[in-house]
Amino acid sequence: MSRRILIAGNWKMNSAPEGACTESSVYHSTEHVDVAVFPTFLDLEECIAAGILTGGQFGHPEAHGAHTGDISMAMLKDNGCSMVLCGHSERRDHHKETNAHVAQQAKAALEVGLHPIVCIGETEAEREHNEQEDVIRRQMADLPLNADITIAYEPVWAIGTGNTATPEQAQEIHALIRSLLPEERTESTRILYGGSMKPSNAQELLLQPDIDGGLIGGASLEPEAFGEIIAIAEQLSQDN
Ligand code: PGA
Repeated sequence: MSRRILIAGNWKMNSAPEGACTESSVYHSTEHVDVAVFPTFLDLEECIAAGILTGGQFGHPEAHGAHTGDISMAMLKDNGCSMVLCGHSERRDHHKETNAHVAQQAKAALEVGLHPIVCIGETEAEREHNEQEDVIRRQMADLPLNADITIAYEPVWAIGTGNTATPEQAQEIHALIRSLLPEERTESTRILYGGSMKPSNAQELLLQPDIDGGLIGGASLEPEAFGEIIAIAEQLSQDN
């Protein structure tokens, strides 16, 4: 496979797992697999100091100003982050982030040299009405798809619920996402799957041709489980 697998841990509003921010923890890239973590803003510095590929869970597109509680893309970059999540479904839901705002975030991240991982995916109601393709198209419409970004397909009904998408369901949407990329990015853009990924289902998901890694919430807070997923990814990469 030409794309290196990326296994990313989204720690959400949880403290770093014990021992995670050290040079010997499992949260480090391996020979064939990129590993990144997205801690709370308070734990960024320690993760970066431990040599971990680290990103913010959110960055405001404006460089500074009257945005209480926010932090800017430029600040994340200046403090040593290399990546940032844009438009996680919890941000879209709880903080009313729109597709337009998420696209602004991704563009602002690129401008300061941060790699954006843009999260997209349909809700349970949208899937029940068979609207998932339209939702994905709308969520991708304004994104800077011709730049070096990563897309994470995270069906909202699979996040934190234990209801993982089947490999077939995930592959179907991943193939759609890839088909919407500009030709020069079709092969190189990584598309991650997120939503209850764990050691027991990681292999079948990562074996799908258009799934290039995972954005992992719950299981990323358990070093052992996260390490198992990385080991599965490493083995698959070696087999290829
Ligand atoms: P989950 O979360 O693995 O706990 O489902 C994934 C995410 O929200 O990124």
